[in-house]
Amino acid sequence: MRRAKVTVVGAGNVGATAAHWIASKELADVVLVDLNADMAAGKALDLAEAAPVENFDVRLTGTGDYAATENSDAVIITAGLARKPGMSRDDLLRTNAKIVREVTEKICKYSPNTTLIVVSNPLDAMAYVAKKVSGFPRSRVIGMAGVLDSARFRAFVAEGAQVSVEDVYGFVYGGHGDTMVPMTRYCSIAGVPLEKFLAKDKIDQIVERTRKGGAEIVNLLKTGSAFYAPSSSAVAMVEAILKDKKRILPCAVWLEGEYNLSNLFVGVLAKLGKGGVEDVIKLDLNDAEKTELKKSADAVQELITAVEGMM
Ligand SMILES: NC(=O)c1ccc[n+]([C@@H]2O[C@H](COP(=O)([O-])OP(=O)(O)OC[C@H]3O[C@@H](n4cnc5c(N)ncnc54)[C@H](O)[C@@H]3O)[C@@H](O)[C@H]2O)c1
Repeated sequence: MRRAKVTVVGAGNVGATAAHWIASKELADVVLVDLNADMAAGKALDLAEAAPVENFDVRLTGTGDYAATENSDAVIITAGLARKPGMSRDDLLRTNAKIVREVTEKICKYSPNTTLIVVSNPLDAMAYVAKKVSGFPRSRVIGMAGVLDSARFRAFVAEGAQVSVEDVYGFVYGGHGDTMVPMTRYCSIAGVPLEKFLAKDKIDQIVERTRKGGAEIVNLLKTGSAFYAPSSSAVAMVEAILKDKKRILPCAVWLEGEYNLSNLFVGVLAKLGKGGVEDVIKLDLNDAEKTELKKSADAVQELITAVEGMM
């Protein structure tokens, strides 16, 4: 029986750490691809040398050659520049669109049936580029943002309410930018609504901190952006697909009329299984949530319009 195979494009902070999570969970063989082939090979070898200590049996390959990616079951695309302090996600648009285009073309050549998990920023626009270039159905091009933004939200709620993160459920809708919409009405601690634990002003602060969660890390790191939680989030999506778990996760999905939105990637709850996005969950939003989601989708649309002009 063949072991699952996952390609991670971009062997930088997010990509290499994704390889680390995949190996330590023994999910799949990993091919790390980077423009800097030696760096990818070095990180793959270094990680492979941890196998006897950590006891995982997966093959790790690092390369610049896409032939090694042939027949990947899933591909995580992290290639691109990361944000520097003072740089917005949108500043990255032109450079990363070119990179994601090139990477997607090469991946599709060797793995025409794979599922793409796009991580490169600006996320919703890069997922759009990957979808357009691959021509894949929407089930097989998914953006990673919601799992990360929701994890930040849940971590801040757990800290604020002084409870275990394990008991905090919550998710974020919308684009991966300052207009994202943490869905406080659906957040619970052990099934009990959030407002039983935290006052409104505290919840508002958590929403604001979540929206700026990426920038908070950039400002601390100074030379790069977050990578532990982002890579862990991408791997959670890959795991749901490889194991056909049917998990309901917040993901950037190409919408086809859901929430009155079409032809753009926006973060919503989706069911992930072996078919990729197998369903989009349609929630009954209240008026305030509808307004916020529309505002966020408008911000995504602006990016998409800009990126279309560059393609
Ligand atoms: N969606 C999210 O929530 C989220 C979270 C964190 C980071 N990101 C984004 O993920 C991307 C990667 O972040 P990082 O911290 O790993 O950056 P990084 O600079 O550490 O790594 C990026 C890697 O991409 C490689 N690369 C560049 N062009 C390439 C190409 N054409 N082909 C193959 N490899 C190429 C670089 O050599 C580098 O090793 C950035 O765009 C970042 O903004 C997104």
